[in-house]
Order: sequence, then C-alpha cells, then structure tokens
Amino acid sequence: MDLQRGRRGADGRGGVRVLWPYVREHRRLLGAAVVLSMAAGGLSLVQPVLVGRIITAVGDGAPLDGLVWALVGLLAVGAVLGTVEYYLLQRTAESVVLTARTELISHLLRLPMSEYRSRHVGDLVSRVASDTTLLRAALTDGLVEPLGGILVLVGSLIAMMLLDPVLAVVTVLVVAIVVAASLQVTRRLRALTFETQSRLGDLTGDLNQTLSAISVVRATGATDRAQARLGDRVRSAFDAGVRAARSGSAIQPLRQITGHASLLVVLGVGGYRVATGHLTVAELVTFILFMLLFMGPVNTAFTAVQSVAAALGALQRITDIQQISAEDATDTIRHRQLPAPSEAPMLRFDGVRFGYRPDQLVLDSVSFAVVRGSRTAIVGLSGAGKSTILALVERFYEVDHGRIDVAGADITDLPRSVLRSHLGYVEQNAPAVSGTVRDNLTLAAPAVTDEQCWTALATVNLRDRVATEAEGLNTQIGEHGIRLSGGERQRLAIARALLARPPLLLLDEPTSSLDSRNEEIFQTALEAIAPDQTVVIVAHRLATVKNADQIIVLDQGKVRAVGTHNELLGTSELYRELAHHQLIGTPN
Ligand SMILES: Nc1ncnc2c1ncn2[C@@H]1O[C@H](COP(=O)(O)OP(=O)(O)O)[C@@H](O)[C@H]1O
Ligand SMILES: [Mg+2]
Repeated sequence: MDLQRGRRGADGRGGVRVLWPYVREHRRLLGAAVVLSMAAGGLSLVQPVLVGRIITAVGDGAPLDGLVWALVGLLAVGAVLGTVEYYLLQRTAESVVLTARTELISHLLRLPMSEYRSRHVGDLVSRVASDTTLLRAALTDGLVEPLGGILVLVGSLIAMMLLDPVLAVVTVLVVAIVVAASLQVTRRLRALTFETQSRLGDLTGDLNQTLSAISVVRATGATDRAQARLGDRVRSAFDAGVRAARSGSAIQPLRQITGHASLLVVLGVGGYRVATGHLTVAELVTFILFMLLFMGPVNTAFTAVQSVAAALGALQRITDIQQISAEDATDTIRHRQLPAPSEAPMLRFDGVRFGYRPDQLVLDSVSFAVVRGSRTAIVGLSGAGKSTILALVERFYEVDHGRIDVAGADITDLPRSVLRSHLGYVEQNAPAVSGTVRDNLTLAAPAVTDEQCWTALATVNLRDRVATEAEGLNTQIGEHGIRLSGGERQRLAIARALLARPPLLLLDEPTSSLDSRNEEIFQTALEAIAPDQTVVIVAHRLATVKNADQIIVLDQGKVRAVGTHNELLGTSELYRELAHHQLIGTPN
C-alpha cells in the first residue's frame, strides 16, 4: 500500500513543492547561500572579460598592474565567497535535517495506537534515521547549487545571444531535448529510491524484531533461518538499490551527450555561419567559451534532478507518516476538566461495540457501571476482550458504537491528556521505559519525592532489590543497568501506578508474573489503596476476585453476568466453571 502511494507520488505530482515546508524555516540562510553562490558565479563571468583585457593590454604594451591585481583580487574574493557559501549551505542543510527529524519524532510519538501495530518499529526508526539524510542532498545539490548557477546561465546565454542568436537558439534546443529526456529518467528514479528506502525499512524492521527476540531465536535453533530471512531482505534492498543505480546511471551519458552534442552542433552550424560570413572566427571562439560556461550550470542541473528525485522518493516515506493525523487531531473537546466528584458512576460502559478491524467484533453491547471507590474485577477466558475494555477506557482506540463515561463525562468529550491524567494503568506485560528507576516511578507523577519512591517500592517488595544497587533510584533500567525480571517489571509498574494516586486505577492481570509471596504482598497493597480510589482489575486469582465489590464475567466479548462472588456462584454457570478451573487460588 505504501508502495502504491509512493508510485503515485513518483508520477511527479506534488513535485519539488513538497520540499518547501522543510525549506521555509531556513529560507533566509538558504537565500543567503544562493546569493553568495550567485555572486561567486557572477565573478566567474567577469574573469574571461578581464583575461581578454590583459591579453589586449599585453598586445598594446600598456601597463598591467591594475588588471593583474584586479584578477588576483577577483580570485581571492571568489575563494572566500565559495568557502562561506559552502559552510552556510552545509550547516543549513543539517538544520533542515534537524527540523525534519524533530518533527517526525514528535509525530511518531503521537500516532493513533493502531498504527504501531500495523507497522514495524524498525521501519519507523529508519524513516527518522535514514530517509531524513536524503533531504540534505536535495537542498545542497538540488536547490541551492542550481539556483546559484542561474546568474552564470543567464549571463552566458545573453552573451551568446548577443554574439549569434541563431547559434544560441540551436544550442539551447539541443540542451533542452537532452534535459527533457533526463527528466523522464528521474521520474523512475524517484519511485526506485522510494522502493530502496522501503526495502531498507523492511530490513531494519525485521532485524529489530529478531534482535529483540534473540533468545527465542537461539533457544529454538532458528538462527540459520533468521539469517536466511534477513539475508533475503538485504538482497532485496540490494536489488532495489541496483535498479535505482541503473536508472541513475542513464543520467551520466545524457550529461555527456549534452556536452558533446552541443559542441558538435555549435562547431557545425557555427562553421557554416562563419563560411557564410555571419560570424567571425574570433566571435565563434568567444561563443564557444561562453557555451562552456553555460554548460556548467546545466551539468549542475543534472546532478540536481538526480538528487532531488532521490530525495523526493525518501520524502514520500516521511510525508506518509506525517499525513497520518495525530491521535488527538480530530478531538471535539466539550470539557477541559473531569466533572467534580458526584453520584455518577466512576466508569460506565453503555452498549459498547468494538473491533480492532471492521470485520471483527471483539466487544459486543458491553454495558456495566463501576461505583466510585469500589473494586471491580473482570474475569473471563483468554481472548474474551478483558484487556480491550481497559484499552478503550484509556482511549487507545475509539468505540464503534455506544459510549464510555468516566465520572459522568463521555470520554470523547475530554482531551485525552486530561482523561489519562485521571487514570492509572498497569499493562498486562508492563514494559519498563528507558531511563532510571526514578524515571520509571515518577512518569505519571513527576513531583513525587525520593522518600515516596522508596515507600512505593517497599509496597511492592522492590525496596531491597533497588537498595542493593549502588546508584539506588538512579540505576538505569535495561541495557546498561539492572535487568529486571518479568515479575519485577510488573511490580515496578504497580508501584508507578500507585504513586500517582489516580482516581481510577486500571490493572490488567497485575499479578500474572508474580510468585505467591509477591502475590500476597500485592493483595495487601491493593487493600491499602485509598477508599476514594476506584479500581478495575482484570484478575485471574481467586483471592483478588473474591474480595471485589462486583465481578464482571466476560465471554467472547459479551457481559454474561455481574455480581459478587457469592451471588455469581449461585447464578452463573460460567462463573462457577471459571472459579473452578481458571481462577487460581492463592495459598491462604
Ligand atoms: N491490537 C489488536 N489488533 C487486533 N486484534 C486484537 C488486538 N488486541 C487484541 N485483539 C483480539 O481481540 C480479542 C480480545 O483480546 P483481549 O482483549 O486482549 O483479550 P483478553 O485480555 O481477554 O485475553 C482477541 O481475539 C485478540 O486476538
Ligand atoms: Mg488480556
């Protein structure tokens, strides 16, 4: 699908204009670079004139001092201009890459949740890392250099027109034909670059996934197969690269043909014009000198179309992401704040229907209410839709039908940030974020003190574990710091959620990785949660479920029964079965 869009973009629609947003912010500096480049070009137009004067002066035996100094000065100024222009241009191009990366990252962090599931993380990473660098070439080779050459182009063209209009028109015609041909080539080049970069994205995506599951790959003896699969991806990136190179290489001969063909045509037609007396030999030589000057910018233009074509291919992959609206782009906000505490249920599902895909029904007419300050357990077989219920409260996805209220307000009427600031959420496979133990704990509540952090760690029995680390709360988690086990990560996530003291706490099987001792500790922590905090917990332990004020029995996306443990034992066949076979009892 991406490729389709790339191809459409590659037809040339959208064109160079799509570069503009990236250029706009830096237009002054880029403009300065263009002016410097033009000035350097303009000086080069004066050189032949000065050289001509010097030759004439030598012939006349006139004094040379002034002319020679002028030439030296001209060369020196040209060199300085060139240096400044080069630095300015490269620096600005880096800034453009900086802007593009910053914006892309900001956008990548705000995509709708479904996008992360449908794309490889590695591919998204390669868009930030690799595609943005092609922008730099587009600006330097593609934009500023050719613009800088315009003065030389126009100057030499005027000189040629003055010398012999017929010959000038013939020259321009030859150049125009070859340039048109090379534009055809670049259309293809753009699509091919898009494909090369996409193959590269597939490769980084796969490699990233393989490396993050390397222990599974090793343990299952699948290393050779993984290597073969990745090898195929490398190969396919290579093939796309070669196809792009093949297309690009057609531009080189075209460039030479322009040079040779125009020279031959000018010599032929010019010789004829000299023979017929329209032109002197001296004029023809001057014409040819100006034609050579004229070819300079034309050659630059060839490089330009090549790198702009490549950049546009890569840019397509950047804009593909930027065109996806951010998660909250279409929000209609009716309330800036959650309503003040009232009699309204803390959480209410009303006829909620939802599927991750249009053809899929994960939740079907789900309705229930959670009283403020109560404990609600959701039970059901794996795949029943329990985690989905919590994800919908977080508004990671939008319901297809029905509504969800938090504290009496429809959650679609609130800014997501406000809604989420009132929720605590412990995911089923709670991942730790990058940073220190403190970073992980204070994520939802940046203002908490170290003291509070240690207390929270003690609540989940992690205090001693962290205290043994020399750096304590400053210990990095992950690659260069402590490696937490699944259960430890889960406990850290619980501590994080408890610290923020959110009005509504959503816990998704928070004890799935805990041993029975830590399970008990968790029960105690759960009981200690402030009475004004509301808890919804997806549970698979009898101990957690038994004490709940209300239990929701979910089966294949439908609410089958609601009640307390004792009530449900009497009324729900399914609950009895679950209590018997699925809900695992704890030692006490
Ligand atoms: N991101 C997703 N994309 C598509 N389908 C999903 C996604 N997450 C869950 N599902 C499907 O939705 C159904 C319910 O999943 P889930 O709510 O995780 O169940 P539970 O937590 O009760 O085990 C399952 O059939 C699952 O395959
Ligand atoms: Mg689940």
